[in-house]
Amino acid sequence: MSSGIDPINDALGRPLRALRISVTDRCNLRCAYCMPEDEYTWLPRAEILTFEEIAALTDIFLALGVDKLRLTGGEPLLRHDLAQLVGLLATRPAIRDLALTTNGVLLAEHAQPLAVAGLQRITVSLDTLRPDRFEQLSRRPDLPGVLAGIQAARAAALAVKINTVVMRGVNDDELADLLDWSRSLNAEIRFIEYMDVGGATRWSPDSVVPKDEILARLSGRFGKIEPLPTRDRAPAERFALPDGTTFGIIASTTEPFCGDCDRSRLTADGRWYTCLYSLVGLDLKSSLRSGVSPSQLQSAILNAWRTRTDRGAEDRLAQRERGPFVPLTALRRDVHLEMHTRGG
Ligand code: GTP
Ligand code: 5AD
Ligand code: SF4
Repeated sequence: MSSGIDPINDALGRPLRALRISVTDRCNLRCAYCMPEDEYTWLPRAEILTFEEIAALTDIFLALGVDKLRLTGGEPLLRHDLAQLVGLLATRPAIRDLALTTNGVLLAEHAQPLAVAGLQRITVSLDTLRPDRFEQLSRRPDLPGVLAGIQAARAAALAVKINTVVMRGVNDDELADLLDWSRSLNAEIRFIEYMDVGGATRWSPDSVVPKDEILARLSGRFGKIEPLPTRDRAPAERFALPDGTTFGIIASTTEPFCGDCDRSRLTADGRWYTCLYSLVGLDLKSSLRSGVSPSQLQSAILNAWRTRTDRGAEDRLAQRERGPFVPLTALRRDVHLEMHTRGG
């Protein structure tokens, strides 16, 4: 069921359908592909949108035809009383899909209240099933908590997906084990190619395991893998094992899907970005706080989307010499360039 409002199209004919809302830039893990540095600067607390401000901005997007929301971080479960925000948003009938992306560390205590508040589904980031490797990759010994969180989400009847970022020499020997494990849980796993997004300061082309190689490794263990019919503007391409188990691959690095991109992102301090790779965003919070009316805000968003030509991942693919997209000095100057600020 859709909201019934015709979405607005950008300059390349792509509708604005999905909004990813980061509720905090803070995180309780330090995953190597996202936050590899020792020191980070956080957004000042006074700049963080209140739940009422998030709901007010959300309403403007819903009125423009957005019907798919995902709460992200940093780690969204670090935001105090997140279930209250979920409850606020879940009352909006225009929302067709309300989901959350989490690292799972705090999920065991929050899964039930989130489900009761109206959350429909959850995606847990998990890159390894080995405790020592988890600690090496994320710099925290929290694998048991994440596994307990996933169980709690299932017990709360939340639909669960797993996101695994694949890094060569780090966890690429574990893909079949991870798929086996997610199959036993009845949770769809998606293997994500390591991306050179802002914050991935250790990224190099050599550390990417391309989709075809992921497929070859999995068919070595499971047999013939069949592609499933095309996706509905979703980043993941889906596949099936001979026994019918499905999984996804998000080949954002080697086969970008910008042509289909209906997503935008709102940071915890109210900047709106029309691409994961945008260098500038629209400061909706300052407008909101200075009394700009919802209809004026709506016009600003409408104009920005109508002129959108972003194809960030495709532009990156076209670069001949590739290293990290944003140098550390630039990340230090503007934390909005960080993936953990922008939402994964
Ligand atoms: P579903 O609605 O469950 O299919 O969500 P999704 O496929 O959007 O998945 P999720 O939000 O879990 O995103 C998975 C990963 O895909 C992200 O963490 C990113 O790595 C990547 N991704 C999501 N959106 C974009 C995007 O707009 N551009 C690029 N390049 N990558 C994206
Ligand atoms: N490459 C791919 N995915 C990334 N994420 C964060 N950084 C990267 C990266 N460099 C995504 C992962 C994680 C989510 C929160 O953000 O999917 O699960
Ligand atoms: Fe969309 Fe930008 Fe990601 Fe391409 S790189 S899919 S345009 S957010």
